[in-house]
Amino acid sequence: MDKTNRKVVIAGNWKMNKTPIETAELINELKPKVSQADCEVVVCVPFVDLPNASIALEGSNIKLGAQNCHFEEKGAFTGEISVPMLKSLGVEYVIIGHSERRQYFAETDETVSKKIKSALNGGLKVILCVGESLEQREAGITFELISTQIKIALAGLSENDLKNIIVAYEPIWAIGTGKTATAEQADEVCGFIRNLISQLYDEDTAKGFVIQYGGSMNAKNAEELLDKENVDGGLIGGASLKAEDFSIIVKAASEQKYV
Ligand code: PGA
Repeated sequence: MDKTNRKVVIAGNWKMNKTPIETAELINELKPKVSQADCEVVVCVPFVDLPNASIALEGSNIKLGAQNCHFEEKGAFTGEISVPMLKSLGVEYVIIGHSERRQYFAETDETVSKKIKSALNGGLKVILCVGESLEQREAGITFELISTQIKIALAGLSENDLKNIIVAYEPIWAIGTGKTATAEQADEVCGFIRNLISQLYDEDTAKGFVIQYGGSMNAKNAEELLDKENVDGGLIGGASLKAEDFSIIVKAASEQKYV
């Protein structure tokens, strides 16, 4: 198993949960539990929680992330948030192309691509989400769909750009459903993505590329999923809202033999 070129990244996606005060409380509960982590730990909180999260995270090993951004730096885009705004609050990561944004907020592969470019230009690291629906899996088009999502999202980006991008493979049928992909299914698609990166770039880039699994990852199944050769971490929704559960996942990731 050759995971030594990569670091494992465990990111919490809080989605539309927690007020600013609750954010500070959850982070304060989480900090001591993950302070010894031997992996990258990120919390992606709602926009309004970012200032409180940034203060609460000061001096800790947990990185701050957002869940979306606009692709323009500023302008007449009512209700939107730009990369420089995020950056000014101490944000280091941004989730782009989450399936909930594709499904409910008209996110397309094209807007995903623009947002990635904007995030990278503004100095943020990207967590790019891809994944198939149950219908697409049953129709046998999982690989085709993921390949399209990735090719469009990464079009025009260099090997160097890829150092600041993580892909999160999130099968839609596994998100928030309690129905996790098996470790084999997760590894198969993450391996496919790594192969694709190798074809689009080169083998070294692919070897160093971080690919997470997301979709009902929890304290019980994390170890088995993270043990797989091509699974380099997790994007965790529900279980990231409980400090104890999230810290168990971080511990499982820390025990992997990574960089
Ligand atoms: P879940 O969400 O862990 O609650 O399934 C994962 C995600 O949507 O990122």
